[in-house]
Amino acid sequence: MRFRRIDLNPGSGEPVANSPQELLLGCHARIRHYIQLGRTLAGAQGVSEAEVADAAAAIFRYFSLALPMHESDENETLYPRICAVQPTGGLVLEAAETMVEQHRAINELTAELLALCATLDRSPNRLAQLAPTLDHVTRAMEQVFGAHLHMEETVIFPALADLFPPEVILEMLNEMNDRRRPPRSGLHLVQ
Ligand SMILES: [Fe+2]
Ligand SMILES: [Fe+2]
Repeated sequence: MRFRRIDLNPGSGEPVANSPQELLLGCHARIRHYIQLGRTLAGAQGVSEAEVADAAAAIFRYFSLALPMHESDENETLYPRICAVQPTGGLVLEAAETMVEQHRAINELTAELLALCATLDRSPNRLAQLAPTLDHVTRAMEQVFGAHLHMEETVIFPALADLFPPEVILEMLNEMNDRRRPPRSGLHLVQ
């Protein structure tokens, strides 16, 4: 597989989300993009060391800065509110519990990917040596995230509008946006 030109910052220039669902789905699109970039990097041939380092740094930046915010959206903004309104045994509550549980397994895989990308950012000449491990880890992430994102998109996100009144939906959106607000230093965090 050849390494083609990539968009290192697909979140830039996007309109502000109008709802928690829209914001969360935007995150999912970027999760899929960066996993795919990892898959592409694992199969890359004939690319410069600068391209390898750039791609590895972009993947590292996304999964170390943005994914934790997305998990906080789901673990800290969605989950407690779903627990408060869903009866025990409810389909959405069960899915939300599964979601939080799956985040732990996802974080273990993500830690492996981050270690690989940090190494490739520093030493891009090691791509050939690390490609099989990168291939293995990104394949596993593709599988685990595939089921995880699908469950959130088909069971949890569509239920939000039925479970919560508009003022609570707005409260959740504000909470998520606050999480992404640039710090006072002016540094801009990726979404
Ligand atoms: Fe999730
Ligand atoms: Fe998610």
